[in-house]
Amino acid sequence: MTNNIYFVANWKMYGSISSLNSLNKLIKLIKKKKYKKAKIIYFPPFTLIHSLIIKFKKTKISIGGQNCHQIENYGSFTGSISPKMLKDLGCKYVILGHSENRDAGENDNLINNKIKIALKKKLKIIFCIGESLNQKRKKATFSILKKQINKGLNGIKNFSNIIIAYEPVWSIGTGIIPKTEELESNIKLIKKILHKKTKQKIPILYGGSVNDLNISKLKNVDGISGFLVGSASQNSKKFIDIIKKTIN
Ligand code: PGA
Repeated sequence: MTNNIYFVANWKMYGSISSLNSLNKLIKLIKKKKYKKAKIIYFPPFTLIHSLIIKFKKTKISIGGQNCHQIENYGSFTGSISPKMLKDLGCKYVILGHSENRDAGENDNLINNKIKIALKKKLKIIFCIGESLNQKRKKATFSILKKQINKGLNGIKNFSNIIIAYEPVWSIGTGIIPKTEELESNIKLIKKILHKKTKQKIPILYGGSVNDLNISKLKNVDGISGFLVGSASQNSKKFIDIIKKTIN
């Protein structure tokens, strides 16, 4: 695996103030030299961002928002959070294009607008892509990934603040992970598509049912720079195990 190994914790709509105590062990662990190359980023729900920023203040753990609005600063958009608001809180990252938000109606153009605005506000992007089960069955994975990448990253010239998270939709929350060969070949496809856009090296993460049990297998997959962990990241012990088993 590459120099920096990303461990991205996506808490989705979970977590409470009391759940933050369980992070003390992680804070202790990553102070060890051995874990220097672990790049840990937490994506709590918006309600916990401020508390987590305080909690991780003296650590190298970064925080991000799970989504943001396509308008840069302020506006009459009930229930939305802008890139500026994330920045003001101290966030460094934002997840965009997550399949749960695509399912809720976000299309490639909207995601592209969000990416451009968030980059303008100097946020780093975790850009999620991935095929559904139906698309996989129809052997449309390549064309879907190509469409998501080309439309999502349309007009972007500098890719240094972009990280791709390849998350097959059929793997998210199901406990099923792709076979190693399938994953490696899809990562290669993604690299090929990206290579046509830029010669910059873009980290590619894998996401979808990553846990403390399958990590020993996943860490040997060629071409990935880390993991986007959903449900297993809500349990600190499991998340720590994932980090420990990857870097041993
Ligand atoms: P999961 O979620 O690890 O619970 O499958 C991953 C994600 O949706 O980011």
